[in-house]
Amino acid sequence: MILRNANIVTDCASYSSDILIRDERIVAIGEHLDHTGADEVDASPYLTIPGGVDIHTHMDMPFGGTVTSDDFETGTIAAAVGGTTCVIDFAIQSPEGSLVEARDQWLAKAVDRCAIDFGLHLIVRRVDDPTLREMRVLVAEGITTFKVFLAYPGVFMITDADLLRMLVTASDLGALVMVHAENGPIIAALVDEALGQGQTSARYHSVTRPVETEREAVARAISISRLAGEAPVYFVHVSSRAALDEIRRARAGGQPVFAETCTHYVLLSDERYTAPGFEAAKYVMSPPLRSLDDQAALWRGLATGGLDVISSDHCPFVFGEGYPGLPAQKALGIDDFSKIPNGVPGVEDRLTMTFTRGVAAGEITVNRWVALTSSNPARLAGIYPQKGAIVVGSDADLVLWDPTFRRSIRAEQQHMRIDYNLYEGMEAVGEPAIVMSRGSIVARHREYVGRPAHGRYLKRMVPAVGLARRLKEG
Ligand code: URP
Ligand code: ZN
Ligand code: ZN
Repeated sequence: MILRNANIVTDCASYSSDILIRDERIVAIGEHLDHTGADEVDASPYLTIPGGVDIHTHMDMPFGGTVTSDDFETGTIAAAVGGTTCVIDFAIQSPEGSLVEARDQWLAKAVDRCAIDFGLHLIVRRVDDPTLREMRVLVAEGITTFKVFLAYPGVFMITDADLLRMLVTASDLGALVMVHAENGPIIAALVDEALGQGQTSARYHSVTRPVETEREAVARAISISRLAGEAPVYFVHVSSRAALDEIRRARAGGQPVFAETCTHYVLLSDERYTAPGFEAAKYVMSPPLRSLDDQAALWRGLATGGLDVISSDHCPFVFGEGYPGLPAQKALGIDDFSKIPNGVPGVEDRLTMTFTRGVAAGEITVNRWVALTSSNPARLAGIYPQKGAIVVGSDADLVLWDPTFRRSIRAEQQHMRIDYNLYEGMEAVGEPAIVMSRGSIVARHREYVGRPAHGRYLKRMVPAVGLARRLKEG
């Protein structure tokens, strides 16, 4: 296939050229490319961008007493329709189990089900010698990122000493530790206090997770990474100005600290928790939505380099009764906010909503948008330039993006298997007109036209994030 007169937009340049695709890859980029017999697509009305890379999703994940409503088939179809051509999901170590068992369990859910290519991170719950030894095995086999929690005591939370051990081991292996930074014990105390006073409604989710619990955990993890010899660390779902300030300070001091925020933190604010009745449960995720001032700080961080990635943290739980085949999952917490499963949908909306509020509204350039939603996550996940790039040799994961298209967001039109949309009624600017995964068209104008088993499992390289000094010593 030849894409003719493509207006190529990468993380660092915009230019016009033809793109020749053969055997799933980009094989030539240049003017007036000639290849007899190739299908021709006129790409000139669109921007041609590398497919979105979403390195934070939770498909088919048991959590909070239920299971996320999108499985790998429905969730990756929704991703593809929204212009994302690669997701990295989280396999979870069970309390007694090994990392390899968790990887295999998640592969069994995902292989032959995915519409687009996918990889796995590993969530580590038990930091003991066998687990640390297994990390070496997994890195060699293509899982090079590991998430740990400083929140959810008794479920996922690890100790500070365990974080230190994780960071030392990971940095010796060239792997990256992803940290969920909220102070779990303090939040648990605040939750107990609120419930003890009879404050059970959904908005108390936000009240009991104040910004300071995030800032403190970020600062602590940065200190621990320093103690670990400046081990690289990646903060997931950063939501506040105060947490971002800690990250900026560490980076200014030369520490290899990386961070993402998520679509919802830069589109929505804590005003959503004032919604009547149980509506606020739709916005229960951790950390919670913050103030407009925090939102402004996050946009500035995205524009000027304090934040590297925008991911979706897609973690959908059905809100109401009557969704075909699924229970009202958020309702588990109707009488006690602490039982509302934490997480929100967003894999389908990430590109459109960040283009709308970021590029169309003038917060970030279109190149920076590509960096944040595709190239940087690909680099940090160890899949660049196979993904996240438009260069000879890259997978032909390409999106022909229509920057002028406008529509109103409606849950009833979405592909995500969930009965609400965080951005309901908002006007969206830009849509993926054609989405290609390894040279196959998988979506056209928000209609899925691919086949589910198309997506392949990605074995990943170690991300290029460590300090050269340390890697040499290791
Ligand atoms: O509330 C959230 N973020 N749910 C997903 C799990 C996690 O911590 O990323
Ligand atoms: Zn998390
Ligand atoms: Zn998450």
